Amino acid sequence: MAVGFRTIIEPFKIKAVEPISQLTRSRREELLSEAGYNLFNLRSSDVTIDFLTDSGTSAMSAEQWSAVMSGDESYAGSASHARFERAVKTIFGFAEVIPTHQGRAAERILFGALCGPDQVVPNNTHFDTTRANIEAAGAHAVDCLIEEGRDPARYHPFKGNMDLAQLEALIEKHTPEQIPLVLITVTNNSGGGQPVSMENIREVSCICREHGIPLIIDACRFAENCYFIREREHGYMDRDLRDIAREMFSYADGCTMSAKKDGLANIGGFIALNDRSLAREARNDLIVTEGFSTYGGLAGRDLDAIAKGLHEVLDLSYLRYRITSTRYLGERIAEAGIPIVQPPGGHAIYIDARRFVEHLGADELPGQSLACELYLEGGVRSCEIGTVMFGTGLPGDADFEPAVNDLVRLAIPRRVYTQSHIDYVIEVVLAVHEKRYQLRPYRFVEAPEVLRHFTARFEPV
Ligand code: F0G
Repeated sequence: MAVGFRTIIEPFKIKAVEPISQLTRSRREELLSEAGYNLFNLRSSDVTIDFLTDSGTSAMSAEQWSAVMSGDESYAGSASHARFERAVKTIFGFAEVIPTHQGRAAERILFGALCGPDQVVPNNTHFDTTRANIEAAGAHAVDCLIEEGRDPARYHPFKGNMDLAQLEALIEKHTPEQIPLVLITVTNNSGGGQPVSMENIREVSCICREHGIPLIIDACRFAENCYFIREREHGYMDRDLRDIAREMFSYADGCTMSAKKDGLANIGGFIALNDRSLAREARNDLIVTEGFSTYGGLAGRDLDAIAKGLHEVLDLSYLRYRITSTRYLGERIAEAGIPIVQPPGGHAIYIDARRFVEHLGADELPGQSLACELYLEGGVRSCEIGTVMFGTGLPGDADFEPAVNDLVRLAIPRRVYTQSHIDYVIEVVLAVHEKRYQLRPYRFVEAPEVLRHFTARFEPV
């Protein structure tokens, strides 16, 4: 990853190692067939490079592991909670902090308190659990992404930005009373891990304040977003990442967080808010469903790991390595002619499978075909984000509707893989690209009604 004249190195050395399996292609063929050609059904020990998700898969630092040993497992008022709360307040700047076991628990509690039937919740793009929790509370989740963000090939420095005109039109159409909150997801996971600019957050905040609507940030990858602001937005080049984070959250009334991403932890999350009475209501729900308000379903040691992780993730040399490493993967495969969502995002590279496997139509599941072939070729596990995940009905049926795009996500765990692992993935992607015309259509053998990508079974045609 040479930038300037020196290679940007992984800013850590490795103290504990885990073996990686390297099976033969024929063994992988047997395993994938047994798994019903669904990569979620594989055992991790049969995967060489696991790019299924960046969530909960980070390597913790020696400092985090030693904090784990000082975890205070008291039911109420633990010292771990005090350290966790201090870290969240320092970095995010909100008055009230509520721990949860992961991001979707924070979503369920907050949206349960704020949303009701027939209400509308705008977001740049809702992540699937965010959408599901809003809809479970009876409200409608609406995406208001700028047009550039919807076209995989188009370049824009802040492709995760919210479309302000669309937001204002939505408020006008539904009245502010029917909009219980506005969300902004940083970075925009479902839209390619693309950042949102400070200017856009500030403008969305102005619109929300004018209409008295709370603005909540879905903060999972907040540090990566801050790094992109520092790198790409005028006036932030010399700013400290902590200042950038504080400014970004100062425009919001609260956030939901999955600490499994930019908390550099294996589990955990939180809600942070300024509104005390809303926080009281959220804590009451937390106590019924997650645990007492000073642990929220987590062990004290998890709270300590997150408290350390939130500080470590804002380290400039870490973020420089992180974003450069993702970009390195994206640029190398794009140079070879592979269509990806441009520009490379923060946590993942998204291959445009419909263009990669151009001889397959959306009804032939090109994303599934590509994801399976990446595993067969080199043991690389990725994730289809396309017609399997977001399409409706089954190909051939009258109600079949393909997804807008068929993407395959290569999500990179934090601090886990080195440059040679990334080079290996590049070789595997290029090898599959060489023989792309041999990739076969896939069909569903079995598919549940909801969240079908987790448990569906397939077969190549
Ligand atoms: N919001 C966003 C933007 C996410 O990416 C995720 C999780 C969540 C909320 C929910 O957090 O998993 O802790 O409950 N994304 C993971 C992924 C699962 O693979 O992209 P969680």
